[in-house]
Amino acid sequence: MQITRPLFDEDEIRSLHRCLDSGWVTQGPLTGEFERSVAQRHRVKHALATTSCTSALHLAAIALDLKAGDEVIVPAFTWITSANCAEYVGARPVFVDVDAATFNLDPRQIEAAIGPRTRAIVAVHLFGLPAPMKPILEIARPRRISVIEDAACAIGSSYAGQPVGGLGDLGCFSFHPRKIVTTGEGGMVTTNDDALAARIASFRNHGATGLRQAERDNPRPYSMATFDNLGYNLRLSDIQAAVGIAQMNKLDRLLAERRAKALRYLRLLAGVGDVVSPAAGEQGHTYQSFVILVREGGRTRRNRIMDHMQQLDIQTRPGTHAVHRLGYYAVKYGLRPEQFPVASLCEDTSITLPLFPGMTDAEQDLVVESLVEGLRL
Ligand SMILES: Cc1ncc(COP(=O)(O)O)c(C=O)c1O
Repeated sequence: MQITRPLFDEDEIRSLHRCLDSGWVTQGPLTGEFERSVAQRHRVKHALATTSCTSALHLAAIALDLKAGDEVIVPAFTWITSANCAEYVGARPVFVDVDAATFNLDPRQIEAAIGPRTRAIVAVHLFGLPAPMKPILEIARPRRISVIEDAACAIGSSYAGQPVGGLGDLGCFSFHPRKIVTTGEGGMVTTNDDALAARIASFRNHGATGLRQAERDNPRPYSMATFDNLGYNLRLSDIQAAVGIAQMNKLDRLLAERRAKALRYLRLLAGVGDVVSPAAGEQGHTYQSFVILVREGGRTRRNRIMDHMQQLDIQTRPGTHAVHRLGYYAVKYGLRPEQFPVASLCEDTSITLPLFPGMTDAEQDLVVESLVEGLRL
C-alpha cells in the first residue's frame, strides 16, 4: 500500500485534451485559469503559478528583496526548502523550535529569535494545519517583519475561517504528488500586494518587465519586452495547469474524503497507547499528511515499527526533517541537534500513515493493525 496516490480521472484527461488540442503548451491561458481558481478559493488578489513550491519560496524571498545580512525565522521541523529560500538570496535562516502538539512554529519562542536583522518569518502550515498566524502576525507587524506563508501542504486549509495564503505577505503552495492537489510538479505564489505580484511575475519570467510605455497601447510585431531584472524561468506549463484546473474542480471532494478518513484514523487510534495522534480537524487541518508520534523508545522503536509495516507492504515515511541537523545547515552554522529538541524528537519519532483518495476502511484497519503489532515488538 502506497503512502499516497493522486486521484486522476476523465476530468484531467479532458482538460489535457483541451490544452494539447489548442497547441499552446507553455504558460498561457490555462495557467491563467488555474491561477484564478486558486486565487478565488484562497480569497487572494493574485496567484502566480511556478514550477514548484521551492521556486515559489525562492521568488517570495526575491520579491521581498531579502539579501545578505538579513535574517529569516524558519521552523526547525519542516522541509528543507522553507530554509533554503533564505540561503538562495544570501540571507540567514534562524531556526525556531516547533510545538510537538501541532508540528508548527511555537510562537512563544519566536520573539527570542528576533534581532535587528530579522526581515521575515516563514510560517509553515505543516501537514495542512495552519501555523498560529494571529500571534505570528502580532509579533511581525509592529516590527515591519514580512511573513511568508509556506502553504506547500495547505491547499484548502483555513485559519480562523480565513483561507491561508493571504494572511501574511506572500503564500507559497506546492502541487507535488504528495500534496492534495497535484500537477506532477508545480507551485503557486499568492499575495494581495500588487507590487509584490509584479515582481514575482517578472522574476519567474526571465526578469521581463513588459513593453516600453510608448509601445503598450500599440504593440508592433517587433515590439520586445524590456528586462530590468535578472530573472529566471520558473513558469508552469499549460499542460500542468490543465491537470491543476481539473484537480481544483474536485478539491472539495478530495478534502472531504481526506478529512473523513483522518477522523476515522483518530477514532481507531484513540485507544492505542504509546501513540500521539495529530491535532483534530476543527483547527482547519486538511491532513495533507496524517502524522503520528511514537511516545516511548525514540528513533529505534519508531524505525522498528516502520520496518514491520514495510514487511507487510505498507509504505510509511517520517513526518519531515529537523532541518538544523541536515549537513548543510549543521556545518555552515555549527548547529547542534539538541538546540531544537522538539524538532529532533519530531523527526525521530514521527510516522506518516498512508492516506489517499479511495482508501478503503479495510486498508485503514490494516494500517492500524500493523502499527499496533509494531508497537508490541
Ligand atoms: C513545508 C514544505 N515546504 C516546501 C516544500 C517544497 O515543495 P515542492 O516539492 O513543490 O518544491 C514542501 C514539499 O514537501 C513542504 O512540505
